Amino acid sequence: MSSTRKRLFIKTYGCQMNVYDSERMRDVLAPLGYEPAEEPDGADLVILNTCHIREKAAEKVYSELGRLRPLKDEKAASGGMTIAVAGCVAQAEGAEIMKRAPVVDLVVGPQTYHKLPELIAQTHRARGEALDTEFEVEDKFDKLGNDRQVDGHTAFVTVQEGCDKFCTFCVVPYTRGAEWSRPVDQIVAEVRALAAKGVREVTLLGQNVNAFHGEPPAGREADGPWGLGQLVRHLALIGGIERIRFTTSHPRDMEEDLIQAFADTPKLMPYFHLPVQSGSDKILKAMNRQHTGEEYLAIIERLRAARSDIAISGDMIVGFPGETDKDFEDTLNLVRQVNYASCFSFKYSRRPGTPGAAMFNQVDEAVKTERLAILQDLLNQQQVAFNESQIGRTLPVLFEKAGRKDGQLHGRSPYLQSVHVDGPDHLIGRIADVRIEAASRNALTGQLVDGERSAA
Ligand code: 5AD
Ligand code: SF4
Repeated sequence: MSSTRKRLFIKTYGCQMNVYDSERMRDVLAPLGYEPAEEPDGADLVILNTCHIREKAAEKVYSELGRLRPLKDEKAASGGMTIAVAGCVAQAEGAEIMKRAPVVDLVVGPQTYHKLPELIAQTHRARGEALDTEFEVEDKFDKLGNDRQVDGHTAFVTVQEGCDKFCTFCVVPYTRGAEWSRPVDQIVAEVRALAAKGVREVTLLGQNVNAFHGEPPAGREADGPWGLGQLVRHLALIGGIERIRFTTSHPRDMEEDLIQAFADTPKLMPYFHLPVQSGSDKILKAMNRQHTGEEYLAIIERLRAARSDIAISGDMIVGFPGETDKDFEDTLNLVRQVNYASCFSFKYSRRPGTPGAAMFNQVDEAVKTERLAILQDLLNQQQVAFNESQIGRTLPVLFEKAGRKDGQLHGRSPYLQSVHVDGPDHLIGRIADVRIEAASRNALTGQLVDGERSAA
């Protein structure tokens, strides 16, 4: 007799929003009997949740589909394997995917995950093509509900989606659609439910999270839309939630109230991811960033005035069309002035359909490679210096899971650094003080001080 239990394998590429979306896909499919599988072999349903941000990320999907082909053939004799492509490649390339990779049964864009059960049923009926990449973001959240399966003590919560900024290098406005914020009450309900399931830290997600302007909670309609600072303060009142983070922000949407939240809300962790992309005003203009290097530095100064120990993180692109040695030098100078705790850096990748792709003054690949190495060297030095500056300090660490070695715990400092210590399992899900004794580029180690603390 065949069982109704089915195996679901999801592979997630790209940003944290995709990690969140993958969790929500697991949630909507659980009632249909889909249980998570560790690898695609023998799975009944394989979902690739894809990223379109750089060419490499998009191409990975096609090589993965190539690897899935023989697995699908093998599974044909025992119920078959359905292969779905979700996420931003699905949104951007749509039906093209099925033409290029006939192994794919269905394509589902980021706003229609709640329709997965229906789409899968359709595919099973027809074994034909199923494609759904409409934009209906409000519908999606209404239909997903709050019944999330929680694994661990930290969770992502999407509060805002989409982007209206149209940076000339970026596909997000095309794949994720226009900027939209979830209503505050809906977010509160989700965070309360997470807290009840043992979550202690929430990271609020949005492509432009600090542009958040959600419908206020019931009884506060007169306020008009709430900004991110108000939302953070409100979520800080929820029992069980000890730490709040958010990502990713845009310098143009920096409101004073959010900066103030770092001063007045201890649960808001002192870590801020604020991409600048370049230090050259000429390049920032060509990127349509709508801010200068000086304006960015002024924001960093205000953040540090509100919370002196705040760790700054960022994103940088080298080799945007027209970038000269002088422009690149301006980027290095800005990096020296900010002094990043951590920063992602990328070579510019030409994305079809974006204005940057059509610019005539593209930079040589070899020049991009050279500039990236120089920039990463500087950023690595800053990251090591930041980590080493914690040696001798006592930091509250939220322990998330057991470490790789026996008796070891893994947690995070307020500045999002990985921390490893020897300690008892019962500290998992709790915050305890750790005296930092050593630091590398990627992690801190130390000793537990004296049991657990109740708050960050
Ligand atoms: N090329 C290189 N990097 C890019 N990013 C976005 N689009 C591109 C592109 N076309 C980077 C930006 C953004 C991060 C998520 O990815 O730095 O902040
Ligand atoms: Fe892309 Fe710019 Fe929007 Fe960020 S702000 S998602 S980089 S267009």
